[in-house]
Amino acid sequence: MRDIETRKDVECIFQNFYEKAMTNNEIGHFFTSVVPIDLATHLPVIVDFWEYNLFHKGSYTKNLLAIHQHIHHQEAITYTALDIWVSLLHETVDILFSGEVSARLKTNALSIATVMKLKIAKDC
Ligand code: HEM
Repeated sequence: MRDIETRKDVECIFQNFYEKAMTNNEIGHFFTSVVPIDLATHLPVIVDFWEYNLFHKGSYTKNLLAIHQHIHHQEAITYTALDIWVSLLHETVDILFSGEVSARLKTNALSIATVMKLKIAKDC
């Protein structure tokens, strides 16, 4: 299995991830009813974020914590929800890619989720 190399690879991961996340019993409703997402418009933004995070390409500058704080005010983001989000993403990456960049994406996602736990989420 090869590693993540291009924007298209990142797009492939998050297309697959959102298909799982949006139909997940525990967290799907965040994307379908709390903040209904149109994947065609949402995906390029997500990919911008990760391209910047992984390859320092582009210029994603929005405040991710503030965006999720806002979601949390509408519907509580729990520790459990964050754990599910992270494990769905890890599972998706592991099915599709393997290598140093793939490992970095998983570590960075876990770190960001941990910061969200500390700064935003509810421990239940
Ligand atoms: C239970 C956990 C999570 C839920 C329910 C969730 C939900 C959402 C929702 C509903 C949006 C759309 C917000 C909007 O368009 O107004 C969003 C955006 C986003 N989320 Fe999450 N999220 C979670 C965790 C995470 C984590 C851990 C990361 C990063 C590691 C992340 C990265 C992003 C990014 C990059 C965006 C796009 C923000 C933008 O529009 O610039 N999310 N999230």
